[in-house]
Amino acid sequence: MLSYLHGFHAGNVADVHKHAALVLVLAHLQKKDKPFCVIDTHAGAGWYDLSSPQAQKTGEWKGGIAAVQGAANIPAALKPYLDLVGRFVPENLHNEGADDGGAAGGKPVYYPGSPFIVQKMLRESDRLSLMELHPREFETLDRRVYHDRRINLQKRDGYEGLVALVPPPIRRGLVLMDPSYDVKQDYARAAKSIIAAHRRWATATYMLWYPVLTDGFEGELHQMFRQIETPGGVLCSELAASQGGAKGRMLGTGLLIINPPFQLDAQLAEIGGWLRNVVQLPGPATHRLDWLVKAP
Ligand SMILES: C[S@@+](CC[C@H](N)C(=O)[O-])C[C@H]1O[C@@H](n2cnc3c(N)ncnc32)[C@H](O)[C@@H]1O
Repeated sequence: MLSYLHGFHAGNVADVHKHAALVLVLAHLQKKDKPFCVIDTHAGAGWYDLSSPQAQKTGEWKGGIAAVQGAANIPAALKPYLDLVGRFVPENLHNEGADDGGAAGGKPVYYPGSPFIVQKMLRESDRLSLMELHPREFETLDRRVYHDRRINLQKRDGYEGLVALVPPPIRRGLVLMDPSYDVKQDYARAAKSIIAAHRRWATATYMLWYPVLTDGFEGELHQMFRQIETPGGVLCSELAASQGGAKGRMLGTGLLIINPPFQLDAQLAEIGGWLRNVVQLPGPATHRLDWLVKAP
């Protein structure tokens, strides 16, 4: 059932899109001294070595983070993310087994996943809750975060776990849901879990990532998110090619954001408009930004 391993896809176009938005939301939370908390329901292994056999096999990062790092005229809104990624070096590398640290024989190039992007932006009193179900990814992540007392990791279903964890004791915050969409049911489970959590913790920002596929499953998600009543609105950012051949193929990357912080729409428009000409997608790409539920 749990066949997905993010190591094959780390640093791809979808990661650039979602992690750039994640950094912008975290930067907004950092503007106030009051603590914030983040719940990351599908955490993965924490960070990835782009010289590993997995990453080398697909080479997806070449059309994502590598293309962006090598490009000119990088927009201001993308720079905080690129600075964080460019500076990222994992701690305690001596704890890592043979699968890490350049197992393909190349010089290791480390890419932070969502847990370590958040960890780098946490202050002393901020908190991060992580959930991960895959036994090996969980073990790896556990070894990487156990020494950080601001972080709580659970081997738990992220859909059910999110609803159980909210509202958290710290009431300012963000939920990131980044499922692997191994099965079609993930779309409905993701939407139902976020809608239930939002009923209990209405002031948080929620970010749901989804793939834009030739099958068009994301239409159902949009329908469900249009029904959400929330003062901060619901924003959709989609970067995708209009055509891509084979059935089931990924055309691009999408984000649904409930209660986005002030000016995130303008920042995502700037980033998306630039990325569409820089990253590698199956064909000429466009970036769409829509308010599914209008903010006042
Ligand atoms: C796309 S990856 C996460 C990547 C990570 N958020 C990042 O940005 O670095 C999805 C992860 O969810 C895990 N997963 C799948 N189903 C899950 C579930 N029901 N609850 C929690 N984790 C799950 C997978 O094992 C995989 O590691």
